[in-house]
Amino acid sequence: MKKISILGLGYIGLPSAAYYSKFNYHISGYDIDKDHIENLKNSKFDITEPGLSSLLKKQIKSKKLEFVDLLPKSNIYIVCVPTPLKKQKKVFKPDLSYLKHAIKSIKEAGVNTKTLILIESTCPVGTTEKVSKIFSADNFPMIAYCPERVLPGNLLKELASNERVVGGIDSRSTNAAFNFYKNVIDSEVHKTDSNTAEMCKLVENSFRDTNIAFANEISLLSDKVGINAYELINLANKHPRVNILEPGPGVGGHCIAVDPWFLINGFKSSSRLLETSRKVNDFKPKFVLKKLDEEVVSFKKQNNREPKIAILGISFKPDIDDVRESPSLDIAMAAKKNYKDVYVFDPYQKESHDIDICKEEDIFKCDLFLFLVNHTHFHNSKFTKVFHTKNSLDFCNFTKSKVL
Ligand SMILES: NC(=O)c1ccc[n+]([C@@H]2O[C@H](COP(=O)([O-])OP(=O)(O)OC[C@H]3O[C@@H](n4cnc5c(N)ncnc54)[C@H](O)[C@@H]3O)[C@@H](O)[C@H]2O)c1
Repeated sequence: MKKISILGLGYIGLPSAAYYSKFNYHISGYDIDKDHIENLKNSKFDITEPGLSSLLKKQIKSKKLEFVDLLPKSNIYIVCVPTPLKKQKKVFKPDLSYLKHAIKSIKEAGVNTKTLILIESTCPVGTTEKVSKIFSADNFPMIAYCPERVLPGNLLKELASNERVVGGIDSRSTNAAFNFYKNVIDSEVHKTDSNTAEMCKLVENSFRDTNIAFANEISLLSDKVGINAYELINLANKHPRVNILEPGPGVGGHCIAVDPWFLINGFKSSSRLLETSRKVNDFKPKFVLKKLDEEVVSFKKQNNREPKIAILGISFKPDIDDVRESPSLDIAMAAKKNYKDVYVFDPYQKESHDIDICKEEDIFKCDLFLFLVNHTHFHNSKFTKVFHTKNSLDFCNFTKSKVL
């Protein structure tokens, strides 16, 4: 049985480790975070991804999946380490230190000409070629870039059903990557070179960011005109060739708010639309705070006291616990700083390192409600009642929610 090591057991690596172990491979899950490995070894999973805990338990029991603190020599290495942005002199630059460290660990664990390295971390164009230079010519492995497109919250299904793009640094690497994914997914695998595969991932997320920026700009324009942006967009979308996305409180997460910078940073003069879109989306939380302030001022005038403010949702999108780059979390933190009585509630955050989360019942004592994330948890008569009867600001199209 071939041995696979997965480097980086986060949102992508851990479900991938569980999923690939269902096939004819033995999987070693490796992470530099020793506490994380210790917890995984003791089957302590802090996971909200549907179906993942039970799959992990099953695969660990079958001995096809183990967690290790030393990277073992393997036939295939899959790299799922973070590639965040760091701010240098007011400019966002990709931080490739984790990726370089991971590739160095692979070299130390051992490679030969039959070893396959699959990089799934999002990277600037040209990264796969650059990092491959660390390997010596006589033991040069096969290396391919294979972007990940899964949607947190639906990850195990999408690992099987999403089409994949694989781009090797040479045709032997591309073919080896193709054969691997063909074996483990139920969908098509498309071959290309590593630069195109890297660019493909960045373009996909820049497409999303730009389209959301368009919707967010419409929401700013609608506010000026004094109309409801959600109603407007719904009507505009009745046109057979128009499909405008939903505006929100901003754009967050590890991908859409980050990946366009990898292109803007590398090719500034050719990515003006992408940079403007980033600016439009980054402006939206400031707009939300301005609207909140207007509501607070008006409440104080009418009631001669400060309002109790309820903030609903802090994750970067509905029905997940991920708060990375979340505009809702930034808004909640700013509101806590600006006003006396702010209650933040998110059903996916029992405790949060970033902000105090109140009990659900405390929310209903509030005067002013800021709907930031359209979690399904809010789709019930308790929340729709406050939405319709109290002062509410809707930045997540809560209006359209179905009451369960
Ligand atoms: N989360 C998503 O929805 C998503 C989707 C597509 C692509 N991606 C990309 O996948 C990559 C991983 O994202 P994530 O969300 O899983 O990150 P994450 O932060 O959840 O997890 C990364 C893990 O890698 C570990 N790590 C760091 N350096 C390491 C090293 N040298 N060796 C071994 N482990 C190491 C960290 O300790 C952490 O546990 C990123 O490049 C991201 O852009 C993420």
